Amino acid sequence: RPGCTHVNVADYERRAKVVLPKGEFDYFAGGANDMVTLRENRAAYRRLRLRPRVLRDVSSVDTTRTVLGERMAHPIGISPTAEHRAAHDDGELATARAAAGTCSMMVVSSSATTALEDVATAGGPNMQRWFQLSLSSRKNRTVLAGLVRRAIAAGYTALVVTVDRPVLGRREADLRNCYELAPRLAEGRVVSATGARIGRRPDGTMDLGQASDARPEAGKSLNWDDVHWLRTICGDMKIVVKSVMTREAAEEALAHGVDAVWVSNHGGRQLDTVPATIEILPEVVQAVRGRCEIFVDGGIRRGTDVLKALALGASAVFIGRPVIWGLAHSGEHGVTDVINLLNEELVQAMRLMGCKKLGDIERSMVAHQSSYHA
Ligand code: FNR
Repeated sequence: RPGCTHVNVADYERRAKVVLPKGEFDYFAGGANDMVTLRENRAAYRRLRLRPRVLRDVSSVDTTRTVLGERMAHPIGISPTAEHRAAHDDGELATARAAAGTCSMMVVSSSATTALEDVATAGGPNMQRWFQLSLSSRKNRTVLAGLVRRAIAAGYTALVVTVDRPVLGRREADLRNCYELAPRLAEGRVVSATGARIGRRPDGTMDLGQASDARPEAGKSLNWDDVHWLRTICGDMKIVVKSVMTREAAEEALAHGVDAVWVSNHGGRQLDTVPATIEILPEVVQAVRGRCEIFVDGGIRRGTDVLKALALGASAVFIGRPVIWGLAHSGEHGVTDVINLLNEELVQAMRLMGCKKLGDIERSMVAHQSSYHA
């Protein structure tokens, strides 16, 4: 990348901070309460050290992997994040085009600012796509069933069920900034996610009515039975439970017949002071004992982070904010660049580690820094 001003993900984040209004940047970047978990997601990767193998022929490197039965060109997918149109006018359409162009799995958020059908069309028939549902909002089963039907019709192959959001985390920067999604985008978001009707009050302001999940009582009634129920209506779609942060939750997810668990703490935006995801991954791997696939997200900003997560047992990793920073930089082009960057870093890290293919990445290649101190 000679002459390039953006050579890593942090460069894109710095750029996003310059181009986005403060309210938007803080919304995307921030975490809950003291943001302990947000910082730990990054810091924990730095505490892991790599143990390379040497003198292996790494002239060609293969990053392909089969994930939930689908062949992926590489193991880096796009986490579901809300409101892409607050980062760039093209919003989720740009993300979808970048996902298609880089052969990346895109997980579309149920708080997207674009209808799930339009995202699918923008990505084209070859874009690998899953749809994220929150068992959190006040959406009742009728609304959820409607979303699932639409996702099936639009070619989504898995449902990612987010379980760590019975209520919204307390993000203090948003409170200070009085952050609210711009009304023109809020309308798109609610319609896309719920198909709900939006009323206008007599004074012309919007009434998000039933569809608003900002209400404090949002979704407290949904529970594990709803995961089981989703299975009965989702046809051939796989079910992934996202935001598993303990062995107990992993066991429960397996007991409800899920196809994969996703270790996530919502990028540190929900319950503060839960551990970093990369610290929880080994516990979940141990509990799952090969019975389903395991994904992880949170704090992945380097190819070496991807490699560490794969070494510790993830089949694939996902990135949230880096995609937003790419969008803020230059829409589709920026997202493409960020994903390509991470993939180039992964290939570089694999070569330096003596790994020709993802299957060569072993548990013993990662050690905690404390094991090097007497
Ligand atoms: C999220 N995340 C998220 N998760 C989800 O299941 N549904 C959603 O709508 C959202 N929305 C959302 C918005 C924003 C702005 C962020 C930053 C995150 C969580 C997301 O899927 C993922 O778990 C984290 O973003 C991963 O951490 P990193 O890569 O951002 O550090």
